[in-house]
Amino acid sequence: MPKLTIAIDGPAGSGKSSVARHVAALLGYLYLDSGAMYRALALKALRHGISPDDENKLGSLAKETHIELRAPTPEHEQVGAKNCVFLDGVDVTKEIRTPEVAQAASRLATIARVRELLVAEQQRAGAGGGVVMEGRDIGTVVFPDAELKIFLDASPEERAERRWKEHQEKGERLTLPEVFDEVIERDKRDRERKVSPLVRAADAVLVDNTAMGIEETARLIVMLAKERERELAKAGRA
Ligand code: CDP
Ligand code: CDP
Repeated sequence: MPKLTIAIDGPAGSGKSSVARHVAALLGYLYLDSGAMYRALALKALRHGISPDDENKLGSLAKETHIELRAPTPEHEQVGAKNCVFLDGVDVTKEIRTPEVAQAASRLATIARVRELLVAEQQRAGAGGGVVMEGRDIGTVVFPDAELKIFLDASPEERAERRWKEHQEKGERLTLPEVFDEVIERDKRDRERKVSPLVRAADAVLVDNTAMGIEETARLIVMLAKERERELAKAGRA
């Protein structure tokens, strides 16, 4: 069977990383979390005291920064990490999962030069197919020719509650309204930015998993992927 490129896009907390990771495991594909790359660059900018709105400095920073995604170690999997993230050779998998880094990531993600560099890196990492990549612009910009595109969504209340529960499990004392505001503010910025905004690609399948679990959602996507694989195999034989 031919190996597909599967693009999963959607807002914060819609289940992209959990579902994409599961889909990749079921299909024997590579899983890649593009948001982790924006988060890693944001972490570096914060550490260097660079404003996440400073276009010039961030363009240069992105150019001199090496970000690598690797399969998670068992230790990382235990704390819910779906990819290990290395920033200039140093593991920052845990450090990038804070609301502060998430906000900074969504601010620097509005900068065209930053996106250009990270998108090129994502295209290199996913070249060859057999990959599930998730983010905001995978089906529209990174892999516009992906054989299967999913727009994953859930209600804002459900998405905020999912994120809040994660923070609770890590012992972070954020209230549900605080997490709700963070998620909504970031969504708004991601949907309204000029460069590669979060939009559903015209040919993406909309999957609303507000009332669905990770396993159920992943199985639905795997079903769609198998159908695409069969269609492509048939077209190849014709
Ligand atoms: O990557 P994204 O921000 O879209 O979402 P995620 O990190 O995969 O999921 C956020 C949280 O929601 C995780 O703790 C998942 O386990 C949980 N989740 C869920 O409970 N039900 C789903 N259908 C999807 C995700
Ligand atoms: O896990 P969650 O959905 O909360 O966020 P993420 O996927 O880790 O992405 C963090 C931020 O990076 C997002 O709010 C976007 O602003 C940005 N991002 C993007 O612009 N394009 C992508 N392909 C992935 C993430």
